[in-house]
Amino acid sequence: MSKALEKRKIGSMNQEVTFIGFGALSIGRDWGLADKQRPDEKEAGIVMNSVLDLGINLIDTASAYHRSEERIGNSISSRRNEYVLASKCGEHNEEPGTFYDFSYNAIKESIDRSLTLLKTDVIDLMQIHFGPDPEKVITDGETVRAMKDAQKEGKIRYLGASIDGELARQCILSGDFDVMQMEYHLLNQQNVDNIKLGQEKGLGVFIRTGLGRGLLTAKALQAEVKPTKLQQLLELVNNDGDLLSTLALNFLYENKGISSVLIGTKNLEHFKKNIELLEKDFDKELLIKAIEIGKN
Ligand SMILES: NC(=O)c1ccc[n+]([C@@H]2O[C@H](COP(=O)([O-])OP(=O)(O)OC[C@H]3O[C@@H](n4cnc5c(N)ncnc54)[C@H](OP(=O)(O)O)[C@@H]3O)[C@@H](O)[C@H]2O)c1
Repeated sequence: MSKALEKRKIGSMNQEVTFIGFGALSIGRDWGLADKQRPDEKEAGIVMNSVLDLGINLIDTASAYHRSEERIGNSISSRRNEYVLASKCGEHNEEPGTFYDFSYNAIKESIDRSLTLLKTDVIDLMQIHFGPDPEKVITDGETVRAMKDAQKEGKIRYLGASIDGELARQCILSGDFDVMQMEYHLLNQQNVDNIKLGQEKGLGVFIRTGLGRGLLTAKALQAEVKPTKLQQLLELVNNDGDLLSTLALNFLYENKGISSVLIGTKNLEHFKKNIELLEKDFDKELLIKAIEIGKN
């Protein structure tokens, strides 16, 4: 079996996900490094059906991803038993933008809307989509109360939080959450201890932006601004963007505290290529050097 399809338990839950999951942001909302235009509905449907055909069983979306939830509902809800479905609440869709509301009623309504758009009876994981004042959301407790009520009503199975750093640590220790979604990749390793802590406490860990929002792919070569660490990584791999992705993906694969990495793309060929690049042989010494560069 390929590394991408390796099944990993979500923490101590009785649920497994493929190591590579699908991040459904850019199939519903303009997003990306250079080419930000979202695909049309038909193309988005082809991408998502093909992702399921490949055997990937985790889809991550959010109320704030504009048309994403609706497109998932329209294109793959008939295959609902083939995927673990994760969404988010707190940041709300208001195309072309979004707004934040973490009050009890806003969260309750958001979960109901997500269920309707996603054309499902239950969402496996609902995560808090934190905004500019995450401390207040945590202290108020209204958001978690609304999520727990939805859980009691059978609308959601598990609770999650998408946040980093010290607040992620607090969320892990709070006992309120089953899954943490965190940013983690070669260029940003700040959550390394949180991944370990999440694993120790029996939480599932989902990684977002594992390819550094595209900077750890062949696109890095065209990036207008290259942070110093990225320049050093590119020198290490002799400007081989594919090798950079192989190192970036295997850096995550070797961390057994990670349940799944949510790869975001609107391009099916990129998704397939990432699965192949994860599989490619690489020089272990090179990965050690890449990790050191990213740490500094
Ligand atoms: N606050 C939150 O909770 C939050 C925030 C951000 C993201 N997320 C989640 O994490 C997921 C991933 O985030 P992300 O998309 O920002 O980061 P990412 O997965 O690190 O990077 C995706 C970017 O890399 C490009 N890419 C991927 N594979 C490529 C390849 N083989 N060659 C060239 N370019 C490639 C994609 O462009 P193409 O479309 O052209 O392939 C896209 O611009 C999202 O979909 C979402 O589910 C959550």
